Amino acid sequence: MLKIMQNDKGMNGRLTVLVTGCDGQLGSEIRKLAKSGDCSFCRFLFVDVNVLDICNRAEVHNYFKTNHVDVVVNCAAYTAVDKAELEPEAAFAVNRDGVSVLSECCVEEGAFMIHVSTDYVFDGQGTVPYKESDPLNPTGVYGLSKKEGEDVMREKGVNGIIVRTAWLYSSTGRNFVKTMLRLGSEREQISVVADQHGTPTWAADLAAAILYILQHTDVKNARGLEVYHYTDEGECTWYEFASAIMQMAGKKCQVLPISSDEYPSSCRRPLYSVLDKSKIKERFGLKIPMWDESLQKMLDEFNLKEAWR
Ligand SMILES: NC(=O)c1ccc[n+]([C@@H]2O[C@H](COP(=O)([O-])OP(=O)(O)OC[C@H]3O[C@@H](n4cnc5c(N)ncnc54)[C@H](OP(=O)(O)O)[C@@H]3O)[C@@H](O)[C@H]2O)c1
Repeated sequence: MLKIMQNDKGMNGRLTVLVTGCDGQLGSEIRKLAKSGDCSFCRFLFVDVNVLDICNRAEVHNYFKTNHVDVVVNCAAYTAVDKAELEPEAAFAVNRDGVSVLSECCVEEGAFMIHVSTDYVFDGQGTVPYKESDPLNPTGVYGLSKKEGEDVMREKGVNGIIVRTAWLYSSTGRNFVKTMLRLGSEREQISVVADQHGTPTWAADLAAAILYILQHTDVKNARGLEVYHYTDEGECTWYEFASAIMQMAGKKCQVLPISSDEYPSSCRRPLYSVLDKSKIKERFGLKIPMWDESLQKMLDEFNLKEAWR
């Protein structure tokens, strides 16, 4: 994982950073890093929907009027990909309209915004890693709502960064790794799709990357909106990901490869969603860990957590 330099206040002095959606996977990892004491260049305000609902325009405007905010890291999102097909208005409310409200406030108050988007903004028909400049063509409601969230930041004239990521997991929250660990204990055999390619990303790695970027960006003078791709390194299919989880966790459960057609879901997932990370690596000199090394670290952390229960 990236090391944030202790006591290095970076180029900004001490920043007040509002982290929305702080109880989710990414928000929780940012909170852990903040507690570790390596982030003395920031004073954090952590809020989730119970304190600050990003869809509530009056509430968010009022929050900005009563709290000084230099940077917003928006981890709040509607992330239920299949459910979004059934309740699109809920997905658009958070992923587009909520982002619009935060954007307005950032522009009014002169705050920098770091927003997280997704590989699902692409249609998955590619065969080489997607670059930031590749055309967007989401195939489902979730992807479209995230794309419109990106668009609205541009329309509002936000100064900030959009980080597109993919296949997030962590030891907290609901995710593929934890589902596999559960199924690995309950079943002798499971079938997992083997024709969708992407890169698993430990939320802890993304959290460290975001804080590293923050430490190395002149947020008070930055102008315009930059898009970067960040996932862990390497690529695999969900089948390979599941097999690695079972093997590393010592589960006896057999993993069988199937095609997407054999696993019906309400949202069609991109077949290929590997993201090209050259831009973020060149701009910030990031060294990104391989997905399977990070998976092992997350499993070690998860085992430790379970052992203390
Ligand atoms: N998960 C993935 O595989 C993945 C892949 C690519 C990109 N991303 C993006 O990465 C970012 C972080 O994802 P994540 O996995 O950490 O998401 P997550 O675990 O679902 O966390 C999202 C958080 O936002 C909160 N939230 C929902 N509606 C809100 C509102 N109106 N106001 C304030 N907070 C609200 C959620 O609360 P509730 O739980 O109470 O709803 C939750 O605590 C998101 O932008 C997501 O789109 C995720």
